[in-house]
Amino acid sequence: MITTNLDIETIREDFPILKRKVNGYPLVYLDNAATSQTPKQVINTIVDYYSRYNANIHRGVHSLSQEATDAYENARRKIQNHINAAQPYEIIFTSGTTDSINLVANGFTSFLKKGDEILVSAMEHHSNIVPWQMLCERTGAILKVIPMNHEGEFLIEDYAKMLSKNTKLVVCNHVSNALGTINPIEQIIALAHEVNAAVLIDGAQAAPHIKIDIQELNVDFYTVSAHKICGPTGVGILYGKEEWMTKLPPYQGGGEMIAEVTFEKTTYADLPHKFEAGTPNICGGIAFGAAIDYMNSLGYDAIASYEKELLEYATERLLSITGLKIYGTSQHKTSVISFNVEGIHPYDIGTILDKLGIAVRTGHHCAQPVMDYFNIPGTIRASFSFYNTKDEVDNLVAGVEKAKKMLG
Ligand code: ALA
Repeated sequence: MITTNLDIETIREDFPILKRKVNGYPLVYLDNAATSQTPKQVINTIVDYYSRYNANIHRGVHSLSQEATDAYENARRKIQNHINAAQPYEIIFTSGTTDSINLVANGFTSFLKKGDEILVSAMEHHSNIVPWQMLCERTGAILKVIPMNHEGEFLIEDYAKMLSKNTKLVVCNHVSNALGTINPIEQIIALAHEVNAAVLIDGAQAAPHIKIDIQELNVDFYTVSAHKICGPTGVGILYGKEEWMTKLPPYQGGGEMIAEVTFEKTTYADLPHKFEAGTPNICGGIAFGAAIDYMNSLGYDAIASYEKELLEYATERLLSITGLKIYGTSQHKTSVISFNVEGIHPYDIGTILDKLGIAVRTGHHCAQPVMDYFNIPGTIRASFSFYNTKDEVDNLVAGVEKAKKMLG
């Protein structure tokens, strides 16, 4: 029995897609860590924008442009308040977490020299590995990997020993996309600051489950993608502490990010515009604000406690299947379960689940080093949201049992 203050049936009514059938079966959507579904409150915001005030921002004197600018800047302030950043201009709109990380990695090119060190955790998504490898290639800095254990937990003592005066940056996810582990970012940040290293936290997988307080964390950079928290794809933010963002050079040149341009010299706009060249995803930014309103209308405490119950129920039920192994067994997890069934390729199980209308992700989850650590080609990943139900967990378990019978 799962108890919750959330009225899940009413919440499900907000998500039109949950009514559709896939391959003749009601959709069971368990790929929320890849993309969450979109409630009608967010869909309506998008329709309203294109129906009533679609215009370019920060440019025109006309009314539509002004309305669009106000709505976009209002969304920036909503995001600022949501994560408790000190200033609205510390919120840079980007196309998502990957873009946010690349912005910072690009900016650090002029700050690093040969022999400087960047520490990265062993459980990162490729988007929090590759930009740093590219930065190391440009500067001669060295990328060092902070180990994890077999539960998929960050090894804080090993990390503390790796920190030195050479450490210039520490990069880590708040929550692992492949394993669901919640990392001890408070300690990670505090320890890095003792050696004056900057810290970037990839918050893509944390934002749907955990409400953060940027000022309390005292983090230097934090990233969020809207599509993980009921918003549209193609938009996200970089939070950057004012002192860093003032020092960091612009990422892309173009319109909007300049103060003055002549062929001899260009001066740059103030924050946040210095980092927002070109026409942004205006509608996406506004809809991101609507998604945050939606999440807050449910409340993060209620979301977290319901998802915890779903996670516990699903873990117990899945482990009752003989030969099933879960990867990522930390006590501190979000509602993500990565698993394999002995002797069966994850892709084959995923394909059969899809035939039954059950959407999961299979493969390496853009985290190949994590798969290498466990010596597996990939996993089946079921990732639950607050709109999932116990019945859907039962469907997943029955689907895996069926796949096992067919393939085993
Ligand atoms: N990063 C997303 C995932 O883990 C796409 O599925």
